[in-house]
Amino acid sequence: LPAYIYPNRLNSAGVDLADPLVREPLLEQLDKLAARDWAATPTVLAEDHGPARPITSPQDRRDVVGSVLEATEADVDLALVRAKDAQAEWDRRGGIARGHLLDRVADLFEEHTPEFLSLCQREAGKTLVDGVLEVREAVDFLRYYACEARMLFGSPMPLPGPTGEENLLRLHGRGVFGCISPWNFPLAIFIGPAAAALAAGNCVLAKPAEQTPLIAALAVKLCHEAGIPDDVIQLVPGDGRVGAMLSGDERIDGISFTGSTETAHKINRSLADREGPIATFIAETGGQNCMIVDSSALPEQVTRDVVASAFQSAGQRCSALRVLYLQEEIADSMLDMIKGAFAAQDVGQPRDLATDIGPVIDEEAQGKLEDHIAEMEQLGLPVMRLGLPAECEPGSYVAPTIIELDAIDQLKRENFGPVLHVRRYKAEDLGKVIERINRTRYGLTLGLHSRIASTRRFVEARAHVGNLYVNRNQIGAVVGTQPFGGEGLSGTGPKAGGPHYVERFATERVTTIDT
Ligand code: NAD
Ligand code: ALA
Repeated sequence: LPAYIYPNRLNSAGVDLADPLVREPLLEQLDKLAARDWAATPTVLAEDHGPARPITSPQDRRDVVGSVLEATEADVDLALVRAKDAQAEWDRRGGIARGHLLDRVADLFEEHTPEFLSLCQREAGKTLVDGVLEVREAVDFLRYYACEARMLFGSPMPLPGPTGEENLLRLHGRGVFGCISPWNFPLAIFIGPAAAALAAGNCVLAKPAEQTPLIAALAVKLCHEAGIPDDVIQLVPGDGRVGAMLSGDERIDGISFTGSTETAHKINRSLADREGPIATFIAETGGQNCMIVDSSALPEQVTRDVVASAFQSAGQRCSALRVLYLQEEIADSMLDMIKGAFAAQDVGQPRDLATDIGPVIDEEAQGKLEDHIAEMEQLGLPVMRLGLPAECEPGSYVAPTIIELDAIDQLKRENFGPVLHVRRYKAEDLGKVIERINRTRYGLTLGLHSRIASTRRFVEARAHVGNLYVNRNQIGAVVGTQPFGGEGLSGTGPKAGGPHYVERFATERVTTIDT
């Protein structure tokens, strides 16, 4: 490939928090940003709005981080008119120009790292470590899709012409994409799918989660500062009603959605009920992720990887471990070690660097998780919980929990927070374990700790999951290295940060020329 297509692309180095010369000035900047008042508004306002809605922090409900003006039907309508008008010109610019602009956005994101870190912490309740990973992933998505734009949308692909005709295959944008995103990766998964849609020559109406519009507003502002026209990417903040306006509108040519399986089903139905062009639907949804640990596994490694997989980001990762299967012979000793490491986790305020586990996103999430834990307690299952320090009082916290199950069927849904379930299995039942996991019909991540190659092959051949992790944790897929996405109830399959993702946002056209 010519050098300008992948100009020595490397993933972002992020911020080295271990280096005091980097960390201390950053902490000072974060202190200053802790009082900033942020705002989010739709890119275009078609009418007068009511009052803005305050956004409070999950780490401390008394902290009002900013406010959001939510898009009305008239705003969405106007945004669609403008996006429709702008799309053909954006598509004609070609992949090299679009890739260049996405690279500029990535540079600006890196320059504004402190603001993004502050918003990750205050608006989304992320620890500093998680915030750094979030900004890195966002930058990596932008640069990776910029390369894909240059590679796939640069010049046409010549095809064979056995009868003497010339055949040329070109990729084009599909039109206007609605990109609907969740709060748990309020920057990376807000900008990732939008960047892929832009790379492919589409215009984007970007709908962030109602919990995290402020960080999204900064991201869109930087896209415009980088030179992407205002009509090409527009922010349409609001709750699910705004998402539904997008999926129900015939002018939308595709929806990229990341969020719960339940919402994906609603969007799918809404797209199917529309008249007009058949829209593309890309859905990346939830999981009931398991890890299997057999007696050949290394206990220290398992302990570290279980705790990280289940409790990092307060368990609010779609990839997070929900059900740990321990081979019977090692279950007691393994569980003792895991509980020991679990008890050493620091639960607290994300602004404190020592904190391992911060808050959950809001009171609704807190309530759902507490209901689940109470239900499991009522079944008489063994439950271990950490205490919550007083500093957590003003926030939405759930005491991290380990529950020993009798059967995976006791879980009715994805429990999106710091709750790990444990199940024992007999070595000869490994096949049945995989069957039960497959029967959940989720298929996002699976962890396996085993030093036996034939066990790995056995699991690999049977498990219906998008990402299998062997002898490591099962979170934190890296762009370009571990393309990420699931199947079944976990999504329609495209792998974010992988070589086939951007193509899913494109349509193919062939020109045949008789000489
Ligand atoms: P959610 O489904 O409640 O909301 C996601 C987005 O959909 C939000 O922007 C919301 O406003 C919007 N929405 C809600 N109702 C809608 C409707 N009827 N029509 C259109 N849009 C609508 O999910 P969440 O709570 O924000 O996010 C957590 C979920 O996301 C978890 O299930 C998690 O597993 C999943 N997730 C998956 C991935 C992945 O890559 N597979 C990544 C991150 C999160
Ligand atoms: N890509 C994120 C992870 O792998 C969801 O944890």
